[in-house]
Amino acid sequence: MAGKIPQSFIDDLLDRIDIVDVISPRVPLKKAGKDYQARCPFHDEKTPSFTVSQQKQFYHCFGCGAHGSAIGFLMEYDHMSFVEAIEELATQAGVEVPREAAPAAPDNRPLYELLEQAAGFYRQQLRRHPEAGHAIEYLQQRGLSGEIAADYGVGYAPPGWHTVLEHFGHDTAAVGRLRSAGLITEQEGKRYDRFRNRIMFPIRDRRGRVIGFGGRVLDDSKPKYLNSPETPVFHKGRELYGFYEAKKALRQLQRLIVVEGYMDVIALAQFGIRYAVATLGTATTPDHLERLYRTAPEVVFCFDGDRAGREAAWKALDTTLPLMRDGREARFLLLPEGEDPDTLVRKEGAAAFEQRVAHATPLSEYLFGHLAAEIDMESLDGRARLAERARPLLDRLPGGVFREMMRKKLSELIGLSVEQLPVSSVKSSDARHRRHRRHSGSPRMTPVRRAVVLLLRDPRLATLSDLPQNWRQLDAPGITLLSDLLDLLQKHPNLNSAQLIEHWRETEYFPHLEKLCGLAMELPVPEEGAAPEFRGALMRLGQQQREHETRTLLQRIEQGTATEEEKRRLKHLLSRNPSQSD
Ligand code: GTP
Ligand code: MN
Repeated sequence: MAGKIPQSFIDDLLDRIDIVDVISPRVPLKKAGKDYQARCPFHDEKTPSFTVSQQKQFYHCFGCGAHGSAIGFLMEYDHMSFVEAIEELATQAGVEVPREAAPAAPDNRPLYELLEQAAGFYRQQLRRHPEAGHAIEYLQQRGLSGEIAADYGVGYAPPGWHTVLEHFGHDTAAVGRLRSAGLITEQEGKRYDRFRNRIMFPIRDRRGRVIGFGGRVLDDSKPKYLNSPETPVFHKGRELYGFYEAKKALRQLQRLIVVEGYMDVIALAQFGIRYAVATLGTATTPDHLERLYRTAPEVVFCFDGDRAGREAAWKALDTTLPLMRDGREARFLLLPEGEDPDTLVRKEGAAAFEQRVAHATPLSEYLFGHLAAEIDMESLDGRARLAERARPLLDRLPGGVFREMMRKKLSELIGLSVEQLPVSSVKSSDARHRRHRRHSGSPRMTPVRRAVVLLLRDPRLATLSDLPQNWRQLDAPGITLLSDLLDLLQKHPNLNSAQLIEHWRETEYFPHLEKLCGLAMELPVPEEGAAPEFRGALMRLGQQQREHETRTLLQRIEQGTATEEEKRRLKHLLSRNPSQSD
């Protein structure tokens, strides 16, 4: 596998190319002041609000909030992957993309081998173990055919405490492997089989390797299902039960159904619906969705019709929004109360179930329907409330035709253009701020964000002398980011905004940083006031840190747990002038 692309190369590449040269062959740009402008390629508009800053090497649309570096532009506009975008830019700059030597991956082969053997062992126990009669009976009573049980490798973990231990050996090496595979547990120095007297469902990764198990009890005892713990090869948030089997059964997948349970996947498969997968008792994650959409353009989320199911569906919608690139489709199927796919497909058959799937509610309808459900859509006020609730959700959609369609739909629903809506509920009196908030869900301006925006607009602020430092200990969102940003800029004061934010691409901060960078472009060019404003923001953070420390120390004194040194520190904090920075 190719190693990582070094960050220093990305910095260097962004130095060599000019975002204006990257964008202008695709979207003709006109010079406007020191920036360039065009009609936005990511949404429909008559007057240009798409702005490209040569100085920042960043683009930003004041209309739809689309934004990014040259890399981000190629990813959005040409639908390239990150690596493809880097390669395209490197070709344009006439340089080769270097790769860091990939670190030696840990050798998980013995683990995979053991898990495969365990799956075989459990299958064999289902046929041979003296107690297996109960298990077979249970499976029959649930309507599982022998054929489908074999397809999914269903097995049986016998009731004993040491069956697996005895079968795979007691020596240290074997026990170590069993432990890291999650097949045994240890408590108070005693070790025993994790899965006992359970129906065993082997979970395979997308290459078909067994990576873990789900085990179901045969009666009403608890817990109903027991899953393998997280191991070096098993990560619940990434894996989907039935994914490998679906890909194996169908070469070309047009649609995937996400259901809740193992038994749902298997029952649907038994009825010939071989494109259902289940999360492993967790909510659907972005990782899951990326994997699903890489395989099929349409995902149907299928949930029970009870309250928990509706909540899970709304949560899935929330996770899906940022991934709804053009060409992807998401739909929602809520089943009648008291049914799950397993019971329903057995009751009404495959054709009726597939009818339901084919008529599942599209994301747009589900989203607006859910929001409108508790609102009086007859009144202007009610419609304004709908707009208010919908906007932050629509803002999380990536720029593109789908987002524009959703915006149009919203205006139709409320009978007003989005711009005409009353903004009474937005409290900020700062017009520029309000406008941005309306368009791209801009975050509240906390001192941390203020400081980050100022830095992105004017990176030289990082080199000011005597900047306050004590805010760095503050435990608040964004402090680590601000701190890292400042450190990076102090080391490399000449990085432009695009280079800066690309350092964070693979982190959770990246979308926030991109958004703040867009915000930085909406602020006027820095004047004299920038330095005091930046210092001011850091000082406010420092003050928050001192207040927090004071509160904590006071608490410790009340509880009688403060040390002498802490008492001295508190005295110092209480006696000092609030504008001092320590
Ligand atoms: P049955 O039809 O009763 O076998 O189960 P189901 O497939 O309908 O499962 P249910 O809707 O009760 O739960 C859906 C999924 O949630 C299961 O497939 C498991 O992945 C998970 N789950 C359910 N109960 C438990 C539990 O007690 N512990 C854990 N860890 N997961 C569970
Ligand atoms: Mn069920």
